[in-house]
Amino acid sequence: MTWLFCLSTLVILSTIFVTGIRYEPNWASIDSRPIPAWYDEGKLGIFIHFGVFSVPSAGFNSQVGWFWYYWKTLKLPAYVDFMKNNYRSDFTYADFAKDFTAEFFDANQWAKILNSSGADYVVFTSKHAEGFTNWPSNISFNWNSMALGPKRDIVGELMAAIRGKTKLHFGLYHCLYEWFNPLYIRDKGNNWQTRDFVTKKALPGLYEIVKTYKPDIVWSDGDYEAPDTYWNSTGFLAWLYNDSPVKDIVVTNDRWGIGANCTHGGVWTCRDRYLPGKLQAHKWVNAMTIDRQSWGFRRNADLSQYLTIEEILAIFVQTVSCGGNMLMNVGPQKDGIIAPIFEERLGQLGQWLSVNGDAIRGTRPWTTQNDTLAPTVWYTKKSNMIYAIVLNWPKTDTLRLAAPVPSTSTRVGLLGYTGEPFQYTNPSTGGINITIPPIPVNKMPCQWAWVLTFTNLQNA
Ligand SMILES: *[C@@H]1O[C@H](CO)[C@@H](O)[C@H](O)[C@H]1NC(C)=O
Ligand SMILES: *[C@@H]1O[C@H](CO)[C@@H](O)[C@H](O)[C@H]1NC(C)=O
Ligand SMILES: *[C@@H]1O[C@H](CO)[C@@H](O)[C@H](O)[C@H]1NC(C)=O
Ligand SMILES: *[C@@H]1O[C@H](CO)[C@@H](O)[C@H](O)[C@H]1NC(C)=O
Ligand SMILES: *[C@@H]1O[C@H](CO)[C@@H](O)[C@H](O)[C@H]1NC(C)=O
Ligand SMILES: *[C@@H]1O[C@H](CO)[C@@H](O)[C@H](O)[C@H]1NC(C)=O
Repeated sequence: MTWLFCLSTLVILSTIFVTGIRYEPNWASIDSRPIPAWYDEGKLGIFIHFGVFSVPSAGFNSQVGWFWYYWKTLKLPAYVDFMKNNYRSDFTYADFAKDFTAEFFDANQWAKILNSSGADYVVFTSKHAEGFTNWPSNISFNWNSMALGPKRDIVGELMAAIRGKTKLHFGLYHCLYEWFNPLYIRDKGNNWQTRDFVTKKALPGLYEIVKTYKPDIVWSDGDYEAPDTYWNSTGFLAWLYNDSPVKDIVVTNDRWGIGANCTHGGVWTCRDRYLPGKLQAHKWVNAMTIDRQSWGFRRNADLSQYLTIEEILAIFVQTVSCGGNMLMNVGPQKDGIIAPIFEERLGQLGQWLSVNGDAIRGTRPWTTQNDTLAPTVWYTKKSNMIYAIVLNWPKTDTLRLAAPVPSTSTRVGLLGYTGEPFQYTNPSTGGINITIPPIPVNKMPCQWAWVLTFTNLQNA
């Protein structure tokens, strides 16, 4: 009895060790997979939206990626008028593709600009809901970047540059649905009881990009209309986690069918620009855009419609403090240029991280996220070090914080500052009063979002 029991335990254990965990095609099993550790380390990714929508690149209080849908399905007047006033009457969306020229697309240049942000990964649109693939897909013989427009393998060139020239992880965005694909329209008409679009187009394309480009992130989009059972999302994910070439490293998200977002899959994206403001139990990501409205490039955006670096840092810091990553989007132009405004914001973030990265990279949320007395001060922690990220430089020479409780050996510093540690007092009402010394401008470590460091707090 005992022998048999030991033997069978041994067999079970060795099976697990030899074969590793096998995930089953159901959500309970898929959801049990831990998110690969690399993803939580760096906190920052850069999202890139590039496609045929980059050609009209006109958005009217809405985003450019949905141009076709706004024009033809919703018939939003601004889009209908824009087309009426600027294009011949028989112009179709497909006619935009020949102007998706990408003549200045230089993947090495992109890699340099993206890397300058200090990010850890890139997520690139392999295919948006317009259906155009940025790779020479075998199941898209005439609606892809090799057949039309650039006549190049954009995904392949970018992958080679990112992996060859930087240490960034390379991820791919893939939109499950295609609004105007006849197979999709027919399945939808059949109330998702037929699955021709899934078996003939959507899944073969997804398997193709995973096998060909081995993305470290598979960022699915498909959080509305069709259920995950239509897409066979758990079937695909079981293959991705068990048998794909990226099974151990790959990170996925939650947009695998209507209602799956914020509930199932890997990292939770919930909804666009998700910023819950408090600690979340599950790893999440804030997918947001520098252009306040649009993911794709929008020619008709003025300066006020781009987030400032102060706004970006406020969002980033709040996100990280609450356990999230930030995936910040840039939309390159149809000619392949990343406009200088995006380049500047990326570079500013990288500059800030080069001074303050310790307060972000490899950190974990602390017990407190933002301070009750100074609500724009956000905390992170790394082993016994607590970081307080101060979004607004204090107006007086005392910064009073409620959360940190100093011990007799606590030291308070400022990241990147070479002067003496800061003096402080322990008010009887709790917390800490920090004396902010006068710092000459040329000794200031950065221009925005300063980071105080605390060692040996009683409540670290
Ligand atoms: C990428 O950025 C890092 C700083 O974040 C820098 O150390 C490195 O040299 C950069 N690499 C390239 C190829 O530009
Ligand atoms: C397309 O098919 C050809 C021939 O079977 C193959 O060599 C190529 O790798 C495939 N391309 C992709 C992107 O899967
Ligand atoms: C779903 O995917 C799994 C794994 O690839 C496969 O075995 C199964 O047949 C698929 N189911 C349907 C209904 O397509
Ligand atoms: C899931 O996505 C849909 C569509 O984008 C959105 O309306 C909904 O609020 C999201 N659900 C959650 C829980 O965020
Ligand atoms: C930060 O803290 C304050 C005070 O505790 C709270 O009212 C506020 O909702 C928190 N979140 C943000 C985003 O400021
Ligand atoms: C702490 O700071 C507050 C507000 O700045 C002030 O009213 C209080 O007297 C200070 N207490 C100590 C012990 O420094």
